[in-house]
Amino acid sequence: MLITFEGIDGAGKSTQIRKLAAWLARKGMETLSLREPGGTETAESIRSLLLESSGEITPLGELLLFSASRAEIVQQVIIPALESGKTVILDRFYDSTTAYQGYGRGLDLDMLRSIIAISTCGLVPDITFFLDIEPEAALMRKFSEKSIPIAFDNSELDRMERSGLEFYRKVRAGYLETIALEKNRFACLEAIEPPDAIHKRITGILTDRFNL
Ligand code: TYD
Repeated sequence: MLITFEGIDGAGKSTQIRKLAAWLARKGMETLSLREPGGTETAESIRSLLLESSGEITPLGELLLFSASRAEIVQQVIIPALESGKTVILDRFYDSTTAYQGYGRGLDLDMLRSIIAISTCGLVPDITFFLDIEPEAALMRKFSEKSIPIAFDNSELDRMERSGLEFYRKVRAGYLETIALEKNRFACLEAIEPPDAIHKRITGILTDRFNL
């Protein structure tokens, strides 16, 4: 089974992924938690390029780099893990590309769909949890996580996080449109709820849908 988590930066995905992995392990399920971009040596190098580079990257270049990283992790890690019966929990997958590069950067959505189909080898998650949060609240969380004074020194933020509030508004709107088109695959959660309450909802949904 492939479970993915999506949401704008600062929505609290990592906390939920940790809790879910522990819950699945207690149920005796073999799980593998991964994040995108990254997950193989090459994909981690691409991640550094994407997040730490100070040079300019065009939206098309950005799309192709995220997609190259995805092609690596899908073929080298995710497909073999699924084939061996593991449950894979993925922190971001192609819905991030639709939301960030499509709606955020404004790239053509049809072109994106073709590239996504290629880079994922056609793999579709069994369920995608979307942690919804207002961009303002999400950025505040990032600032406090990284102990950045609110009086705005954004040099601690990564290249994507420096894209600004307006960008994150478009990304969130993109997620919401994507979800409206594929209601069955997504489960939406309010990220401002306490982490334990969100975790309970997640395990409840998995129990209902997949008899876990
Ligand atoms: P990361 O530090 O993993 O962010 P988070 O903790 O919020 O998941 O950085 C990943 C960044 O890359 C994040 O800003 C979202 C962005 N991204 C894209 O723009 N497109 C993509 O296809 C993926 C996978 C991520």
